[in-house]
Amino acid sequence: MTIVTIAHLSDLHFGGYADLKQMEALEEFLPTLNLTALVVSGDLSQRARHGEFQAAHVFLHRMRMKMPAIVVPGNHDIEWWKSPLGLLGEKRKYAKYLRYYSELRPVLEAPGMIAAGALSSYGFSLGSLTWNVRDIAVKGHLPRSETKRIKKIFDEAAPGLAKIMVVHHNVLEGGTGRMGLARWQSAHKRLLDTGADVILCGHDHYEGAGQIEGGLAVSTSGTHSYRQRGGRPSVFNLVTLDAQSVHIQHFRWVSADRQFIASDKFSFARRGAPKVAVSVAGGDQGL
Ligand SMILES: [Fe+2]
Ligand SMILES: [Fe+2]
Repeated sequence: MTIVTIAHLSDLHFGGYADLKQMEALEEFLPTLNLTALVVSGDLSQRARHGEFQAAHVFLHRMRMKMPAIVVPGNHDIEWWKSPLGLLGEKRKYAKYLRYYSELRPVLEAPGMIAAGALSSYGFSLGSLTWNVRDIAVKGHLPRSETKRIKKIFDEAAPGLAKIMVVHHNVLEGGTGRMGLARWQSAHKRLLDTGADVILCGHDHYEGAGQIEGGLAVSTSGTHSYRQRGGRPSVFNLVTLDAQSVHIQHFRWVSADRQFIASDKFSFARRGAPKVAVSVAGGDQGL
């Protein structure tokens, strides 16, 4: 199979907190990595302002001249206060984002891969509510309709393609000890069923590489803003898929040198196609 190499960025947060030195370094560095695609897993802006979206748009436009890219919205990118609990309709929350980025649920095909974005950012909504008051409008959720839609896309994809799912909220407990998704146990079961080879997420502002139930690889990318957690340097992830494995390598920002350097690398077995019953003379023999 084609080896697929993806730069996975997240939480650019254009606005007061974006580290422009990092953005400039990324513009120079990413095109040297021979990438199949670029993934940005949400929180392009800080407060869903026009200028913030425009700055992110310019960055992505420059990148798209060098490689295909896919972007999903984060909780900071939606104007949830324009329709709390969705009472004034769903469209109002996403109108400004959609002015600059045409899709909430994008799909990207590139050589050897298909990437599908799932929407987890709904703001102050019933599905994202928890008992923690700090979670209001921050927590995300993955409705059943979203995982079902992603599964259909992957089921219908050409055989042999690497299947990449992109979602904003961290699906594993991150370095901060917090889950990005409300009702994550249900989400985990459904994520395992989508057929994805790897999930790319962010939101935690703390890099991570792990698996759901020891089977499905998860890349959590950091932030390129000044809002890193745990006093850690910023990180983006390089995700590589070959026939057997998913590799997730962290690239750490060294501010004194104004460059990203290769750091820890984690490798996981790819899940592979599900085993199917083999038909032989005399009847099916279940495996
Ligand atoms: Fe963020
Ligand atoms: Fe976020």
